[in-house]
Order: sequence, then structure tokens, then C-alpha cells
Amino acid sequence: MRDYAIAVIPGDGIGTEVVPEALRVLGAAGDVTSSYRLRCEHFPWGCEHYLKHGEMMAANGLDLLRPFDAIFFGAVGFPTVPDHVSLRGLRLPICQGFEQYVCYRPSVLLAGVRSPLAGKAPGDVDFVVVRENTEGEYAGAGGRSHRGLPIEVAVQTAVFTRVGTERVVRYAFDLARRRRRTLVSATKSNAQQHALTLWDEVAEAVSRDFPDVAMERVLVDALAARFVLAPESLDVVVASNLFGDILTDLGAAICGSMGLAPSGNINPEREYPSMFEPVHGSAPDIVGKGVANPVGQILSGAMMLEFLGEKIAADLVSAAVRAVLAEGRALTPDLGGTGRTADVTEAILAKLRASPA
Ligand code: NAI
Ligand code: MG
Repeated sequence: MRDYAIAVIPGDGIGTEVVPEALRVLGAAGDVTSSYRLRCEHFPWGCEHYLKHGEMMAANGLDLLRPFDAIFFGAVGFPTVPDHVSLRGLRLPICQGFEQYVCYRPSVLLAGVRSPLAGKAPGDVDFVVVRENTEGEYAGAGGRSHRGLPIEVAVQTAVFTRVGTERVVRYAFDLARRRRRTLVSATKSNAQQHALTLWDEVAEAVSRDFPDVAMERVLVDALAARFVLAPESLDVVVASNLFGDILTDLGAAICGSMGLAPSGNINPEREYPSMFEPVHGSAPDIVGKGVANPVGQILSGAMMLEFLGEKIAADLVSAAVRAVLAEGRALTPDLGGTGRTADVTEAILAKLRASPA
């Protein structure tokens, strides 16, 4: 039995509802496989913490998180606190401070789930977006002057570095090599002639080290259309921070629900802990109703298990989720069902406990 130290940050809104459900599933997978135990420590950071203490996380938050094997995150943001304060006070300092430069976001259309795209069957959508996660449009460079005056000006500068671009592009190529060997690099170098020509040049240079992977450069607007019109043509997509953010909500939507999509903020060198969280946010519109879909959080947990080396347990969790969705009995309203959050968890736990260890 291995022990893993997990820092748990449920955060805000439905984060506090789906994180405990996912932890039950991850704990059960450890019992079923007799392979590990999760030693969880909870950190009550988020918007309520901000309203009480004036900060989204403890000032030495990164020092506190540093020793953990991984971070399990819910969502951050609530209408009580401006979104730029909450995001920049909690999730971004962790992603940037821990060099989690790969945001790994699979989009898979699962059996039992209906895509809003006509005529798409399970298997037709199966790609991964590798989103740059530390710089680009999220670098935070810029400022506002002459506030409130007619001459007010705001400048938000995207920051693209050769090192930052190369490391994420290389990761995406490496991933493509282990999949269907095709990579789409999302760009907009026609309009963004400084930053994204650097991006294109770096992608081109890295591609020479991967002659077995076919790389295609696609303008991000055309790529958005392709997500809808021909998602089956996609295998791995590498994109800047903002492009990747937008494309992955679209990816989640075409796979049936925001509530299903998992995500990992990964430091591939394992110098710092990586952080696993669903793609969705805190969903204030459904908070407190007990109907949040826990699957995105649970699959993020499976991704965490795999990252920790618990591949068997990770596969068991994914298989249990797939079986429950395919049966279509315990589905939350986002998937057209009448099930509640806990019903979905119970159904997944039952599958898990029935699976051959
Ligand atoms: P959202 O992802 O929270 O919600 C978008 C829509 O999807 C809503 O209608 C919501 O009900 C639905 N939805 C999301 N997750 C669901 C689930 N598990 N089950 C069923 N339905 C689900 O995005 P929104 O509304 O733009 O943002 C809400 C707050 O979350 C904001 O404060 C935003 O800044 C924050 N946010 C945080 C993120 C993070 O922590 N990584 C990511 C995205 C948004
Ligand atoms: Mg997003």
C-alpha cells in the first residue's frame, strides 16, 4: 500500500459539492486495488476565505502545497468576488508558481451521452487539447491608466517566450507520437504577427524532431469551426493559454456536457506538485441544488491516479464511469436525467466495487 499526500482545495460553488464525491470514488478505487491510500489535507481557500481574510489563499500557500504529491482542485470563483481577483488569487498562482505548463484536456464522446452535434457516435470525438498554462494571454502583464476618464486606457500584453512555447509544443508532439500521430497547432499569426509567428516558428522547429508526427497549422477561428464540423479529424491540439481555454469549453460541449470534462495542470518534470480539476467552473446557477454532475471531477481524479502511477485504479475508475453513463440510469439534469449528484457517485461506487481487482 502506497500513501499519497493530496492537498484538497474544493474552492467555490459546486467545487465543494463534487470534490467530496470524487474523493469517495478515489478512496474506493484504492480499497478495491489494495494499492494505495490517499492522505488528504483540506485547504479552505476560495471566495469565502477572501471575504473573511482579504486573500484567496494563505500568503505562504505555495510553500504549504509544495510537499504534496498532487493537488486536487474543485473550482474557483463566485459572484461575491470579481472573477479576476478570484482566479488570479488562487488557481493562476498555483499553475504559474508550480510550472504546471501543460494543461491536459481530453475531449471524448462517451457511450450513453448525446452530443449536440448531429450524427456523432461514441468514438467519433476523441482528442486531447494541450493548453499552454503559464504565460501567453494569462501572463498578467499590462495596466490601466486614467481610470474613469474619457481617455482611460487598458493594456493587456500577451507574453510568449521561446522556452515557454517550446516546452508545451514538445509535450504535445510527444503525446501525439503515442496516439494517432497527428498534431494541430492552433495559431492566429495572420493577426498576431509577433507572438504567434514565434509560436509557429517554434512549432515548425520542434516538428523536425518528430518526423513521424504530421503537424498542421490551423488558424484558431477555422479550428473552432472544425471542432463542430469535423471533430473526428482531431487527435492532439496544442494551443496558447486563451485559445486552449476557449477551445476546451467547446470540446466539453460537443462531448455532451461541461460537467463531464476532466483536466490536469501538469508539471511534467515533477519538480512541483501537479493539480487536477474539472474543466468547468463553480456553476453558481446550480449550486446548492444537489444536481452538479460529479463526473468531470471524478475523471480528473482518475487522471491524478494515473499521474501518480496508479494506472490500474485509474482505469477502473474510468471504466466504472463509462459503464454508468452507458447504462443511462443515474444521469444528472445536464445529461437529460433526473439523478442527483450523490446518485451518480453511488452508481459509480457500485460498479467499482463489483469490478474484478
Ligand atoms: P461554469 O463552468 O461554472 O458553468 C457554465 C455552465 O455549465 C453553467 O450553466 C453550469 O451550470 C454548467 N455546469 C458546469 N459544471 C457543471 C456540472 N459539473 N454539472 C452540471 N452542469 C455544470 O462557467 P461560468 O458560469 O462561466 O463561471 C462560473 C464561475 O466559475 C465564475 O466565477 C468563473 O470565473 C469560474 N470559473 C472557474 C474555473 C476554474 O476554477 N478552473 C473555470 C471556469 C470558470
Ligand atoms: Mg475555461
